[in-house]
Amino acid sequence: MNAIEDLPKQVELIEVGPRDGLQNEAEPLALEHKIELVEGLAAAGLSTVETGSFVSPKWVPQMADSDAVFRGISRRAGVAYTALTPNMRGLERALESKADEVAVFAAASESFSQRNINCSIDDSIARFEPVMEAARQHKLPVRGYVSCVLGCPYEGEIDPQAVLEVSRRLLELGCYEVSLGDTIGIGTPGSMARLLDVLSADIDVRQLALHCHDSYGQALANLLVGLQYGIRRIDSSVAGLGGCPYATGASGNVATEDVVYMLQGLGVESGVDLDALIAVGERCCGQMQRRNHSRVAQARGS
Ligand code: HMG
Ligand code: MG
Repeated sequence: MNAIEDLPKQVELIEVGPRDGLQNEAEPLALEHKIELVEGLAAAGLSTVETGSFVSPKWVPQMADSDAVFRGISRRAGVAYTALTPNMRGLERALESKADEVAVFAAASESFSQRNINCSIDDSIARFEPVMEAARQHKLPVRGYVSCVLGCPYEGEIDPQAVLEVSRRLLELGCYEVSLGDTIGIGTPGSMARLLDVLSADIDVRQLALHCHDSYGQALANLLVGLQYGIRRIDSSVAGLGGCPYATGASGNVATEDVVYMLQGLGVESGVDLDALIAVGERCCGQMQRRNHSRVAQARGS
């Protein structure tokens, strides 16, 4: 048996640091440094950079300047600069900002849905309908997120069937893929495998991405399980920036540097220049006077 022979040969990383990372930092990063971060990530080879979030600034003040970030960046050809859009106001801002792609976000848990976007799962899907319609008219691809796929801070365990149902609804609405969020990083390779058993029986794995927070240190192991199921799209955050403002105890996403290092070891191509990426993460952490949570960056002693 060769456990790595059948892995995908290429994986696309979706860099979520400028959004998922920065939305949860207590000290805001200055606008010019956010712009520098996005540009540095694209220059390091990340072909999708989640650049901001067009949510209510009352709910997430750290993302209030996303419009200015989009205005300020120099764009590289071939890179998609994306944003979250919870409602029509968000979509209008995304269009004004010329985002290349947007994302709607739902949850597999009712309590999390209420606390994160102030409505039930059903209401969130109804709210996304006009967003999807307008995005379609503007030929804007829409990604769907499902939070709490391996556990909820308020409800505990989540039934994989609940994840399947919300994922299906997002795909039926027109999302081109669903990113499965282990929002509080509570999953293990066991629970990830049980989830993917259920999802992959019903959904083409090419329509699934993984979004693992690393609170319990399981993210890389969980991603490896995802690769074994054929998943080729992984969300990660430079320097392990981030968390979630509505999930107490959630640490940042798995660090992009650590994912790139693991993929290199597996012989899986990601197109990212690891040294350049480490330099981007170090610079950002220096600007925020924050510890770099990438283990690879720490080991390199940069
Ligand atoms: P609400 O309070 O129910 O709705 O919020 P509202 O329509 O009454 O809006 C409240 C105020 O916000 C109003 O202003 C609106 O105009 C304004 P006021 O009249 O009071 O002056 N507003 C907006 N302003 C700018 N842009 C907008 C916008 N929408 C409303 N788009 C709402 C509902 C969805 C807006 C709110 O709950 C919200 O913004 N939530 C966002 C929460 C969030 O961003 N969470 C983090 C992202 S999700 C995540 O991190 C998980 C993920 O990473 C995956 C994982 O890890 O699981 C994706
Ligand atoms: Mg997240």
